[in-house]
Amino acid sequence: MSKAEFYEQVGVAMTCRSYGEYEKMFLLEDDFLKKGKILDVAAGASSFVAEANERGYDAVAVDPLYDLTVEQMTLHGQKEMKEATKKLAKNISSFSWDSYKDLEEHDTIREDSLKLFLDHYKENSIKKRFITGTLPNLPFEDETFSLVLCNHFLFLYQKQFDLEFHLQAIREMIRVTKKGGMIR
Ligand SMILES: C[S@@+](CC[C@H](N)C(=O)[O-])C[C@H]1O[C@@H](n2cnc3c(N)ncnc32)[C@H](O)[C@@H]1O
Repeated sequence: MSKAEFYEQVGVAMTCRSYGEYEKMFLLEDDFLKKGKILDVAAGASSFVAEANERGYDAVAVDPLYDLTVEQMTLHGQKEMKEATKKLAKNISSFSWDSYKDLEEHDTIREDSLKLFLDHYKENSIKKRFITGTLPNLPFEDETFSLVLCNHFLFLYQKQFDLEFHLQAIREMIRVTKKGGMIR
């Protein structure tokens, strides 16, 4: 089975991973999270930034889709979630279910995450944590962040983004990271 048949994807998906999923994937630890400003690049509808701020960290997210209204973002997020579930269900036995008990648990985590993201996205006009921006040009000053994360965007969409794009994107993430900071 080809990759396209296994998990058909047109364009870039907008997923909504939770803080817990980021924590495990990036091995995030309090010592580093509290060092300074955190940036989540290509953050989509992830609740990482919402939850990081609730825990007292100073995090912002950047994504090209943050010019969507709350209503548009809600509809888009729900549609993307349904599509992802359908694709996972189609080949359910081919995935490893070590991190999630089953598809139901996976969906519950993502639904909760989307809801939390939307709650914070609604307040964005006040708190400005969700900033519209597109790699390889991020709308931030040099050396702004102690920690820069980018989850499930780079190295995933080879058809749309070539090697040169990836090099420029990585240079851009280095530009906005403080000396001694970390990119994951
Ligand atoms: C698969 S989602 C990942 C969302 C989130 N990081 C997560 O893990 O749940 C990929 C995100 O990349 C965003 N994206 C697409 N093109 C981009 C670009 N050139 N620069 C930054 N983000 C981009 C999309 O809008 C989408 O929200």
